[in-house]
This record gives sequence, C-alpha cells and structure tokens, in this order.
Amino acid sequence: MILLTGGLGYIGSHVAVELIKQGYDVVIIDDLSNSEYSVLERLSELTDTEIYFELGDVRDITFLTGVFQRYQIENVIHLAAKKAVGESVHKPLHYYDVNVSGLINLLKVLEDHRVKKFVFSSSCTVYGQPDQLPVTESTPLGDTPSPYGKTKQMCEQILESVAKVAKHQIVSLRYFNPVGAHHSGKIGELPKGVPNNLVPFITQTSAGLRDELKVFGGDYSTPDGTAIRDYIHVVDLARAHVKALMVDLGAHIALNLGTRQGYSVLEVIKAFEEVSGIELNYTIVERRAGDLPEIYGDPSLAYKKLQWKAELGLTDMMRDAWNWQQGLAK
Ligand SMILES: NC(=O)c1ccc[n+]([C@@H]2O[C@H](COP(=O)([O-])OP(=O)(O)OC[C@H]3O[C@@H](n4cnc5c(N)ncnc54)[C@H](O)[C@@H]3O)[C@@H](O)[C@H]2O)c1
Repeated sequence: MILLTGGLGYIGSHVAVELIKQGYDVVIIDDLSNSEYSVLERLSELTDTEIYFELGDVRDITFLTGVFQRYQIENVIHLAAKKAVGESVHKPLHYYDVNVSGLINLLKVLEDHRVKKFVFSSSCTVYGQPDQLPVTESTPLGDTPSPYGKTKQMCEQILESVAKVAKHQIVSLRYFNPVGAHHSGKIGELPKGVPNNLVPFITQTSAGLRDELKVFGGDYSTPDGTAIRDYIHVVDLARAHVKALMVDLGAHIALNLGTRQGYSVLEVIKAFEEVSGIELNYTIVERRAGDLPEIYGDPSLAYKKLQWKAELGLTDMMRDAWNWQQGLAK
C-alpha cells in the first residue's frame, strides 16, 4: 500500500492514477484545504479502482498514527503542502507550519513503522536565482526570497539529516513547472481564486472567466523579453514518482524533474493559440516581485537513476490543459 499525502491535489491526483496503473494500492490523505472530494470520485471512475481515503491534516500526529495502524503502508509519497509563493509572503507561519511541521510529523510517525521509501515533493525554487543554466543537482542551493521556497529548502535539509539514521530511503523530487492535465479530461488543476500560474490563467482567460491575461515583465534579458521556465507535463511528472519507488537510490537523493527545455511566456501563449485556435487577449505589465527571469533544469540524473524522461511536449501540455478547462465548463 502506498500512502499518498495531498493525493486529491493537482499533482497528487495524477500520481494516484499512475500508481494504480502500475498495480499499486493507494491510500490518500488530504484535508481538502486546496482540493475537492469530487476528485476522489473522478479518480475512482478513471481508474475503476477503490482508492482508500482518509480525511485529515498531516500536522495531526494522532490522525497520522491511526492511518499507519489501519493500513499496511510500504511506501510514502508526501505531496501535502501549501504552494503559493505570493501567499507565503503574507502567511509565513502557516507555510512553515504546514510544510515543515507536516513533514516532521510524518517522519516522526515513520520512526515506529518500517517503510521502504519516502518520496518528497521539492521544487526548483530551492536553487534561487542560479548563476548557470541548466541547473543540475550539484548547483548550490541559492537564496530563495519566499517563505515557500525556504520551506522546501528546510524540508530537504531535514530529510538529509534524517536519511543518516532512517531505515527508509528518501527521494526529493525537484519539480520544475508542472502544467497540463490527464488526457481524459477527468482530473487537472483546480486553482482557487485568481490563478498564480501562467497556464491556468491562459485557459481561464480563453474560457471567458478572466478578462485578459497579464504577462508579468517584458523586459527581461531573454530573447523575447518574457520570463523563461521549464514546463513539464504533469503526467510525465507523476510517472517519475512511480519509477522512484521501483529502484534502489541510496539513503537520500535529490533529482531534477524537468525537460531541459525553457519556454518563454510568449512561446507558451503561441503554443496555446495554435492548439486551441483562440487568439489570446494579453497585456505585458510590470515584472512581479520575486519572479526569476529564467530557469530550466538538467534532468539527466533522473534519467540515469530512474530511466525516466519527459515524453510529452508543449503542444501536449496545452492541448490537455485546454481540454480540462473546457470540461470544467460542462
Ligand atoms: N504545482 C507546482 O507548480 C509545484 C511545483 C513544485 C513543487 N510543488 C509541490 O508539489 C506538491 C503538490 O502540489 P500541487 O500543485 O499538487 O498542490 P495542490 O494544492 O493542488 O495539492 C496539495 C494537496 O495537499 C492538500 N493539503 C494541503 N495542506 C494539507 C494538510 N495540512 N494536510 C493534508 N492535506 C493537505 C491540499 O488540500 C491539496 O489537495 C506540493 O508539495 C508543492 O509544494 C508544486
């Protein structure tokens, strides 16, 4: 049985599907703070499988202990966390509490149980603004201005220390920019309020839910002046979690999950317009505080260790994101 925390969220729901496809039994923990119960129903429909679900908070150690008593858990994939960079500036304690205390609680409970592997959702934000691109896992961790980024750095440091004494192996997966949705259109990203990320903003604008798309910054030192990111299809990302369970990786390893290919905001907009046939209404506005001009990652270590690489391209990401958005309107 795999314990998947945050499994009703955007990435977690896709990880659940890939795990079930590979024959794993899954129990999801989620407090529904950023997801909906209907995702569980859609997951069951999509996989035609019973998925165990425990409603609760990873900060609640009694709850976590109960879950470990009720299920025979062999591996843990820990995704439950707060993830909005901007919000973390305004609610730093909440971010440290959920992201750092949540991790510590889970690790404490694991001390009394034998699991094989602990997979952690990290982020490329741990690199801060790197001097050289693409970033590799040996790129030093940089100054990351947001409390969110700091929580991910702290979590990795905690995991590094714990790995020296733990019986389980630990894998920190550093995601670049996950986008897209499952091709079925049954699961995808469900941002609450105004989206912080480009692709949901694009799809919501195209669906008429937002008046116009704001492109933050047109004067970066990139070829077209807009910021460059390493977008990765969420299904590719999810598959890497399954691979991470299958191979021996030593006490603790951090792996970049990206594509090595950076795309600018304008390139993403163009790809979306081509896929959807919709011309986007966008305006270039001031840079957003804390945004990096450019980042993309070298995923070759993940290939070497997991035999994993991203298979889906920007067109797939845009097609699936749009398909998901259109389905939401029905
Ligand atoms: N989406 C990205 O761009 C991105 C990039 C890098 C890393 N990550 C990390 O990946 C993980 C998953 O991100 P996501 O995009 O799927 O986010 P998400 O918000 O869609 O999913 C997180 C899930 O965790 C649940 N949750 C939050 N706090 C909880 C708590 N205290 N107890 C139990 N459940 C809780 C939420 O309800 C939600 O279902 C997070 O750790 C995030 O930091 C995400």
